[in-house]
Amino acid sequence: MADLKTKYLGLDLKNPIIVSSSNLTASVDKIVACEKAGAGAVVLKSLFEEQIKADTAELMKGVEDAQYAEAFDYLTKTGDYHFIDKYLTLLETAKSSVSIPVIASLNCVSDGSWIDYAQRLERLGADALELNIFVLPAAVRKKGEEIEQIYVNVCRRIRKKISIPFALKIGPHFSGLANMIKNLKDEGASGFVLFNRFYQPDVDIEKLEVVPAKILSAPEEMALSLRWIALLSGEIETDFAAATGIHDGKSVVKQLLVGARAVQLCSVLLQNGVDYVSTMLNVVVEWMDRHNFARLDDFVGMLSQEELENPELYERAQYVKALVGIS
Ligand SMILES: Cc1cc2nc3c(=O)[nH]c(=O)nc-3n(C[C@H](O)[C@H](O)[C@H](O)COP(=O)(O)O)c2cc1C
Repeated sequence: MADLKTKYLGLDLKNPIIVSSSNLTASVDKIVACEKAGAGAVVLKSLFEEQIKADTAELMKGVEDAQYAEAFDYLTKTGDYHFIDKYLTLLETAKSSVSIPVIASLNCVSDGSWIDYAQRLERLGADALELNIFVLPAAVRKKGEEIEQIYVNVCRRIRKKISIPFALKIGPHFSGLANMIKNLKDEGASGFVLFNRFYQPDVDIEKLEVVPAKILSAPEEMALSLRWIALLSGEIETDFAAATGIHDGKSVVKQLLVGARAVQLCSVLLQNGVDYVSTMLNVVVEWMDRHNFARLDDFVGMLSQEELENPELYERAQYVKALVGIS
């Protein structure tokens, strides 16, 4: 039978399916269920920068310091205390309950002192760290370079703090995406999750309210990571995990063919249950057997831009009328 083993962030995974950071990985029971369903690894639900700041503020109670006012406010509003303790316990218990790699996750929007917490995650046995970074470029006075520098600073500081591998989970909104990824890799990032899917607001025109847009992804959304992993996997020596819109086994095969070392799943498992991992893996195995591929290395990256005779296929971005046959 086909061998599905892969290496991602230097970790040995029995197969390339990783359960994404989400509610699916927010408790030990659920993480055990992911392993039972056949997942190659899990990324824990994120610890958010705001939660770290709020927890720090709780410890500082009684200390007069305006800097913590915002965090205090957050803390009292949510009524949920000691996120960090809970998170560290989750990590520690998960590590002793499953044998697949457990990747801890930090969600951040600045290069502040929260970075120190990466060390605690390392000490408790996280196999790797995933940093979900997004700085909303909405401040009219903030230049693109300043925002990009935040990503670089985070990466640099994290690399100095920990020795376990870490991946950056980022969005596609950089004017120089390829160059940015190369820089972040040079600053020490071990891999990249392309791409994060952001919470989007929508408007209810009857209730005249702002409401969340669709929380779960659709399969069409996968085209974005497919193109970028195809463009970059042969160009930048790093590990790419594909994310967003991967809803079936064929899509896993596609992402591997363009050069992904692993894929991350969330929406499809929320919709079908975590056991759907094994259904998707069966499709990959059946496809590999049919094409006489014994192991992943036999075909990973085979359809990356670097390997194509007609590499501009991935660079074509504007529609040509004749191409799509629409008059
Ligand atoms: C309910 C829910 C909770 C999520 N929580 C997190 C989180 O804590 N940290 C994170 O990095 N991503 C989080 N995500 C994003 C997912 O990890 C994933 O990147 C995104 O849903 C796109 O993948 P998909 O198309 O397979 O759903 C969450 C997504 C959902 C739907």
